[in-house]
Amino acid sequence: MQTKFVGILTGGGDCPGLNPAIKAITQMAEEFGYQVLGIQDGWKGLSAPAPQSISLDSKQVCHIDRQGGTILGTSRTNPYKLDHGIEQLKTNWQKLKLEALIAIGGEDTLGVAARLFDEEKLAVMGVPKTIDFDLPGTDYTLGFESALHVIMESIDRLRSTAESHARIFVVEVMGRHAGHLALQGGIAAGAQVILIPEYDFEIDRVVSLLQERKKQGNRYSIVVVAEGAKAVGQQENLAGREKDAFGHIRLGGIGEYLADSIAKQGNLECRSVNLSHLQRGGAPVAYDRRMGFAFGVASVQAVLAKQYGQLVSFSDGKVVLKNLSLVRGPIRCVKLETEYDEANYRAKRSII
Ligand code: F6P
Repeated sequence: MQTKFVGILTGGGDCPGLNPAIKAITQMAEEFGYQVLGIQDGWKGLSAPAPQSISLDSKQVCHIDRQGGTILGTSRTNPYKLDHGIEQLKTNWQKLKLEALIAIGGEDTLGVAARLFDEEKLAVMGVPKTIDFDLPGTDYTLGFESALHVIMESIDRLRSTAESHARIFVVEVMGRHAGHLALQGGIAAGAQVILIPEYDFEIDRVVSLLQERKKQGNRYSIVVVAEGAKAVGQQENLAGREKDAFGHIRLGGIGEYLADSIAKQGNLECRSVNLSHLQRGGAPVAYDRRMGFAFGVASVQAVLAKQYGQLVSFSDGKVVLKNLSLVRGPIRCVKLETEYDEANYRAKRSII
């Protein structure tokens, strides 16, 4: 009998949860008679002059679900931006004799996957991951809970210094143009002020909220600010000027700017900490291991049923398949009406 090959790749920012998905895909696909090929460094490995791939087997992936990052490597390569990138990718697809490919990624990686299915008729599946939690079409993206855990633990650690020195700490978190990490991380860590990209803040209001807390006898306050948040009338803070292959600019620096403004305008002692890539590090929390398993199994089921062009999605508490083209829609942002208290810069106190 002819060997059937299925490929897996991980693209975009790494995060905990990728390896559990790779393990589940490999073990299940092998059980159903597939030879699994791990494509290295995302779309880069499939659009290189020769395909970059490694064979994966059940034994090899046995322990990887406890590790952060991705054993396959990742990149922000966009094959649509490379000269003859798509031609090369299709040649490599033939060389590797792929029956199907499972791409694990966020809006960029899966946006490419959706185009490859729609325009090139390649048998591609998508598995959602991003710590930003901004992918449309799913209520969970691998990596989000693990990143929240880092934010929560880091703020728990900062609290002792904040309290001992009676200081304010501004903690900058990732998330690009979506405030989910800031809002949910802020809730988990008990932050008093949370600033998100979806709602421009007034520095005066931030200062008055912090002064009010001080007057009430609180020795310290924690402010969580999303890297994409900005003050009214200002631009986002940029960490660099170059755009990546998907047109994204690197954000960063709002925390330091804000801490400085709070100190000057409010005459308050304030420090800033940028959690930066620490948020993408470490072992996956239990939820990311479980969801990595569930998403991985579902993606292989879809391949077995030859249901391509699908996104494995978590929707209404269930893992289901949805049309992959959904990932090309507008990013999923914090819903101000239901989730954010615009007057007090915190989570809305109304749930039911
Ligand atoms: O999309 C994940 C993310 O971590 C964003 O939150 C952040 O803006 C960006 O990636 C950072 O990208 P890089 O790792 O390329 O610096």
